[in-house]
Amino acid sequence: MAALVHTQQSDITKLEIEAIVNAANSSLLGGGGVDGAIHRAAGPELVHECRLLGGCKTGDAKLTKGYQLPAEYIIHTVGPVWRGGTIGEPELLASCYRRSLEIAASVNVRSIAFPSISTGIYGYPIEMAAKIAVDTVHDFLSGNEQFHEIIFCCFSVKDLNVYQSLLENND
Ligand code: AR6
Repeated sequence: MAALVHTQQSDITKLEIEAIVNAANSSLLGGGGVDGAIHRAAGPELVHECRLLGGCKTGDAKLTKGYQLPAEYIIHTVGPVWRGGTIGEPELLASCYRRSLEIAASVNVRSIAFPSISTGIYGYPIEMAAKIAVDTVHDFLSGNEQFHEIIFCCFSVKDLNVYQSLLENND
């Protein structure tokens, strides 16, 4: 069965899905944006587990439980800070999506939601970042039958429109 890949405008902390991805920083100890929202919604046990993980490199991802979230798992990934695009930002951003899916697959997750990694505080231009997100997820799915549903969870209508037009062109 081909996975359903779609986009919606929501607060990712509210989604009833097996795993959500967090756009974290390398400390994994919380921050602003979606990271702050996830830590607030999951509750204080999350940071206790995160402290044991020893941080995370840019482009990599680590797994925790979801605690008080509807989601069973959180996959914390660290996107690149946008510095003009010539120092490896596209490869690092693609790696965030790939590593998150690999880790999700390793615990048999079939449904997962991504926020728009790096496009808030880290400043990655949304059009470029969303294209990398959609292309990397489709490439991954071409070699994997496990996933049933992938959601690109957007906070703003503007981001939703960008993802929608990319997904339409990918059909
Ligand atoms: N649900 C879905 N998307 C959200 C939510 C939410 N509840 N809240 C924000 N977004 P950002 P980054 C969107 O800044 O650019 C943190 O301090 C937001 O509108 O959260 O990867 C970390 O600790 C934007 O589209 O992540 C790092 O230090 C997207 O999520 C740093 O920010 C990503 O924006 C990471 O920066």
